[in-house]
Amino acid sequence: MKQGAFSLNNLINVNEQTREFHLTNGHISYIFRVMPELNQLESVYFGKAVHVQKDLHNLDEYEPGSGCQQLPKTGIASLEHRRQEYPTYGTTDFRKPAFEIKYPSGDKISAFKYLDYTIEAGAPDLGVMPHVRYAQNAQTLSIRLKDNYSKLYLTLNYTIFSDLDIIVRNAVFENQDSKTYSLLAAKSASLDLPTANYDLITLNGAWARERHVNRTPLRPGLQEIGSIRGATGHIHDPFVALAQPNTTQNLGEAIGMTLMYSGNHQESIDVNTYGVTRIMTGISDADFNWKLEAGKKFITPQAVFSYSDRGLNGLSHNYHDLIRQHIINKEWQTPQRPVLINNWEATYYDFNEEKLLTLAKNAKEIGCDLFVLDDGWFGHSRMSDTGYMGDWEVDPAKLPNGLDHLVKKIRDLDMKFGIWFEPEALSMDTKLYQDHPDWLLGNPNKHLSQGRNQYLVDFANPDAVEALYQKMVKIIDQVHPDYIKWDMNRNITEPYSNYLSADKQGEVFHRYIMGVYRLYQKLTNKYPNILFESCAGGGGRFDLAMFYYAPQAWTSDDTDAYERWQIQTGTSYVYPPAVMGAHVSIVPNHQTGRITPLKTRANIAMFGSFGYEFDLTKLSTQEKEELKQATKRFHQFHDLIFNGDFYRLEPSNPKHGAWQVSSKDKKHAVVCYFYGLSEPNHGYYHLKLTGLDPDQLYEVNDKRRLYGDELMNIGLPLTEDYHKHEDDYWSKPMMDFDSKLFEIKAI
Ligand code: DGJ
Repeated sequence: MKQGAFSLNNLINVNEQTREFHLTNGHISYIFRVMPELNQLESVYFGKAVHVQKDLHNLDEYEPGSGCQQLPKTGIASLEHRRQEYPTYGTTDFRKPAFEIKYPSGDKISAFKYLDYTIEAGAPDLGVMPHVRYAQNAQTLSIRLKDNYSKLYLTLNYTIFSDLDIIVRNAVFENQDSKTYSLLAAKSASLDLPTANYDLITLNGAWARERHVNRTPLRPGLQEIGSIRGATGHIHDPFVALAQPNTTQNLGEAIGMTLMYSGNHQESIDVNTYGVTRIMTGISDADFNWKLEAGKKFITPQAVFSYSDRGLNGLSHNYHDLIRQHIINKEWQTPQRPVLINNWEATYYDFNEEKLLTLAKNAKEIGCDLFVLDDGWFGHSRMSDTGYMGDWEVDPAKLPNGLDHLVKKIRDLDMKFGIWFEPEALSMDTKLYQDHPDWLLGNPNKHLSQGRNQYLVDFANPDAVEALYQKMVKIIDQVHPDYIKWDMNRNITEPYSNYLSADKQGEVFHRYIMGVYRLYQKLTNKYPNILFESCAGGGGRFDLAMFYYAPQAWTSDDTDAYERWQIQTGTSYVYPPAVMGAHVSIVPNHQTGRITPLKTRANIAMFGSFGYEFDLTKLSTQEKEELKQATKRFHQFHDLIFNGDFYRLEPSNPKHGAWQVSSKDKKHAVVCYFYGLSEPNHGYYHLKLTGLDPDQLYEVNDKRRLYGDELMNIGLPLTEDYHKHEDDYWSKPMMDFDSKLFEIKAI
């Protein structure tokens, strides 16, 4: 830690003469400056903290080099050779710019020049757009630039925290002109790094196999991930990490970038011929054309950068702490999450009051606190995913006594009640559609694709959003749910809003997701005690922004323990266990057909917002007892897992996996070891733990006593003690996908 360079009131150092800016909290430094004469911003450094120098002239890199010169003979080389802070189109840079503006003259040539800066305590409030909050431990630097060719202003915001190795950035365009300008691209942030000697890590997948980890060496040229589906999507999480090739989970440097946004996103990674790596994130350019009218602003979502010299686990800890302390609503940061039973995989659409109550009673017996009624409670005998989306009125055929009656019976069991909605979905057999056909998203004169047999409500239309709000309020005020699952099962295929004029159709995607945020905001403001869980066909809208409104998200429709191991491992790169909905379900698993031990299903689900999702009436007494214990274990470890530091461990057998969560004071830890396929005649395995106090003596599962340094360097022996009952070794149960849980307590 660099001494004397910072304090809470001095996280941002400015040299006004040289116009250099150095943000540092003693762990990280983020440095940029204004290029002399050109007056554009140059990126200098992001990484481990360095001394705050009076000026940075010793770092000048002004060799003329080849290429085109915007200001010939000024000593300013072509921008192709320089690292840009927020690159502009129409310069000598020749790389993908961070923004593009179409001028009335038809060209896109901009020249935003440095104007001034301000420093404020805290972080910017972006209104309905999710943003970091409760930032008493942060300062924000805002740099204002003005376009030479218009009265357009650009503000770049940089927030640094005193105790988190995170930099939050965004860009705000403001039109002080009398004309309208078209914003064709408006990224949240761009960062040029002076080397390409990195591995690129991304989290990719599909429905039911979200966020699998991919790591490959960087290569020259432009690579992109993103979504043009109107939602974050199952395919690419908006997270990108650059790790040094030798960076492991616990050692080495890594830089992370993610976007706090739930709509179309685009992350580009561009290695140029000079070995400079540009990473950039923001709203996707695809079908984006924002008409920036006179007097109006366009605010981009926040990009969140993280730096770690403690390996990839360190990078994750930065994000986990940010989400838990600065994104999730304060009301939901500490309370114990309920253990829920969801009827989806238990009954699907085939239920009545009696069936639901039997499930609830069985769930109560194994310790569940919350009964969640999933899809199928509305419309008229909805027995599949066809129809009735949009009216949100209870189905008199399935629940003839009404929803209130069911809810009362559930509450009589001393259980809370939760309910499922898919507010954005629309079917043509609803009154909502018949009364407002123009609220269906899509061009009525062109083809309309269905997704899961349904369409979408035009959330770019504030009247439609208000109508949905009223419909939800009616049900909420009737049954007072403690929990709402907000699902979204199809993507936007034909983006067209009947509400918007022809020249504004390039705004549909962004306005849609802002409509979603608006509805979330109205509901969470009115009902602060309802726990929202977001969902999009499982993990299709899993991003920082969703956690601003819904403190947990359904991680994946895939509840298979082996697949969940991989999904939750990938998800943990950015998101803490506290936000990952994770349920124990039946075998053979409904998504994979795989059979895994009940113990493993429970162990894996425990590293998340725990619950159940299967027909508990089919359980044997012994299985019921096992699940009772699993529920108890979740309560026992809840605070540790929800608030501690989560580590991905690296077992010596690469086919195995292990997770660890340590309390911040290093006095308590829990470890889950996952075996994969069972292996005959294997050797002895040790698991090196991490995040413990080397000088502290710990007790493992109330048996072995080992110091932190032994557990972290020699490792935890995974063998069991068969001393004096050796024969039992040969009759011990063997199974695929076995797992073991270890509790480590300081003594
Ligand atoms: C998709 C969700 O991910 C499931 O959990 C379930 O709620 C179904 N939709 C219901 O249609």
